[in-house]
Amino acid sequence: MSNIVLTPGPRAKAIIERDQKVITPSYMRDYPFVIDHGKGCEVWDVDGNRYIDFTSGIAVLSTGHAHPRVVKAIQEQAARYLHMSGTDFYEPMGVKLAEKLDEIAPFQEQARVYFCNSGTEAVEAALKLARYYTGRAQFIGFIGGFHGRTMGALAFTSSKFKQRADYFPMMPGVTHVPYPDPYRPLLNLDGQKDYGERVLEYIEGTIFRTIVPAEEVAGILVEPIQGEGGYIVPPDSFLPGLRALCDRHGILLIVDEVQSGMGRTGKWWAVEHWGVEPDIVCSAKGIASGMPLGAVIARESVMTWGRGAQGSTFGGNPVACAAALATIELLEEGYIANAAEMGEFLMDGLEEMIPRHPSIGQVRGKGLMVGIELVKSRKTKEPAPDLMHEAILHSFDEGLLLLSCGVSALRFMPPLNLTREIAAEALQMFDRALSKAEAALL
Ligand SMILES: Cc1ncc(COP(=O)(O)O)c(C=O)c1O
Repeated sequence: MSNIVLTPGPRAKAIIERDQKVITPSYMRDYPFVIDHGKGCEVWDVDGNRYIDFTSGIAVLSTGHAHPRVVKAIQEQAARYLHMSGTDFYEPMGVKLAEKLDEIAPFQEQARVYFCNSGTEAVEAALKLARYYTGRAQFIGFIGGFHGRTMGALAFTSSKFKQRADYFPMMPGVTHVPYPDPYRPLLNLDGQKDYGERVLEYIEGTIFRTIVPAEEVAGILVEPIQGEGGYIVPPDSFLPGLRALCDRHGILLIVDEVQSGMGRTGKWWAVEHWGVEPDIVCSAKGIASGMPLGAVIARESVMTWGRGAQGSTFGGNPVACAAALATIELLEEGYIANAAEMGEFLMDGLEEMIPRHPSIGQVRGKGLMVGIELVKSRKTKEPAPDLMHEAILHSFDEGLLLLSCGVSALRFMPPLNLTREIAAEALQMFDRALSKAEAALL
């Protein structure tokens, strides 16, 4: 178990004590960070300590903390009107944002957009839409997937048992299959050369033949790069093959880009790395730089539900839409390109550390979605969750905020306007932190 004891400063300590009396005990804070303010990729705690934020508040702050242009857009909109629900009234900011999302949607067809407030709500709405459009009831999800915590999305979420335990029964109609994780494949290759194709063959040859007939499946819900499940990048064959499989059986391809979208991987949407056009896209997190907003972006031919079929009082709040429009401008002006460049810089830096750190099993990712798999031994690939936890604590001690993912991986998900100087400083901090964790536990 952990070797390091972190002592919060006096102001942080006081807030943590109050938090522990009134905030839900279901949250899982790994270390005692209490924010005072942030700027770009840096944050300061209430005791004046400075940290580099490689979490972006769980992959949300795409333009960094308090970007002046986002703050200005929020202030201007807040002074005009705070709310006038788009569900019952025509609301210009929502229209403007939906037009922009249509421009950047990862399919040729005209897009239609349903706005909500979070990732899990976007997933719920996508599931309802898929059932409505296809008239089918069943879905395929992936082991290790994370799609949210409301009851529909939770039926797919399977990155940690804790998130599901005690809430059974789940929404019926979800069959889980292995996500094609090339590092830790759950299926053997069974004569197939490619692991992506093997998983596709398993869905079509085994699941559709023995568990659920393809003609009853409304949609396949997939993260193009698995997020909470471990920052897992699938083999190149997988998503194009999944598209073809969906086309063969009239199944909708629903991509959950809540974490991987909005430029984080160096393209607007992660699915674009494989040239795949989905039917429905779920977005949230980075879309509005920290303001709560979710969106379902669907092909016009798919979003056919009628008046009253779906709505949300707060969904597409105009202040959040203003933040999203400013965010999108900043992303297209250069932050997406920067995410690609800084992602390579971080991956190169981590690769270079491998010879010094026996616990690094694999470095993987795209753009600023970088995962580091920690293992007890490279040969056995045995996960090292205690070491992972220790590395997070030592990173915090060094001044670097990190979060975990999967069984024993760490993720780097900094804001997309990360600078080379801060990236280099963060790599040095991480290098030292991992050395200390290895010295304690390996
Ligand atoms: C891929 C993915 N989908 C959905 C969600 C749920 O989003 P929210 O927490 O906004 O409900 C998350 C959150 O981590 C996510 O990573």
